[in-house]
Amino acid sequence: MREKDFPRHIALIMDGNGRWAEKRSLPRLSGHNAGMKAMKEIVKHSSEIGLEYLTVYAFSTENWKRSKEEVGGIFRLLCYYVENELKELCDNNVRVRILGAYEELPKDAYEAVCRAIKETKDNTGLQFCIALNYGGRAEILRAVNSLVCEKHDIVDEELFSSRLYTSGMPDPDLLIRTSGEERISNFLLWQLAYSEMAFTETLWPDFTPDELDRLIEEYRTRERRYGGRLKP
Ligand code: FPP
Repeated sequence: MREKDFPRHIALIMDGNGRWAEKRSLPRLSGHNAGMKAMKEIVKHSSEIGLEYLTVYAFSTENWKRSKEEVGGIFRLLCYYVENELKELCDNNVRVRILGAYEELPKDAYEAVCRAIKETKDNTGLQFCIALNYGGRAEILRAVNSLVCEKHDIVDEELFSSRLYTSGMPDPDLLIRTSGEERISNFLLWQLAYSEMAFTETLWPDFTPDELDRLIEEYRTRERRYGGRLKP
């Protein structure tokens, strides 16, 4: 049995890859490569500790503004990750889910992602949700437009949530952002309504499973009130 107050869903803003590389006089892509390795360890650890949902912000709708070289490099890393990790993800019973308009990704990345979704769809362990070409406002508008098309008179929270990319998932219990920045940056705007937040100075490539464990322990000491006085 999972311990009391253990989070079901952790969301991660993996920030600081560029600064990590800059500090070492390396190209930004080396930072993303180190970030991918850190992500790999965190996914493995999350699965081992019995987390149900891990959602990572890998590429936002705003990230297209970066240089062609950097954008292309991030998608190459995504393909490399799927190519090299899919077997281990399957061995660990991890299910991959994508949040965002991934059909707009370059063809190779789109195909890699489709393969990861298809080959892990029956897995029942950790749900590893990768936000790709994701924006919180775009997600909300997509949900609104789908409901408008269906001509609903009244929409409640349950119906609205069912049109988000996160349909069927619990909201994040804990949002972690690395690199000292304290912003949400258009991530899971609806879903983070009552999430606890943790910010760490650590740059993403230096983020370790030990630090994740420490942040989870700190989260478990918090009293969540959801706007009321008592725990639900
Ligand atoms: C933010 O750091 C990081 C990103 C925009 C990319 C995240 C990508 C990975 C962790 C690796 C690739 C993995 C997949 C699944 C594609 P930043 O570049 O904004 O850092 P900075 O603020 O220091 O410049």
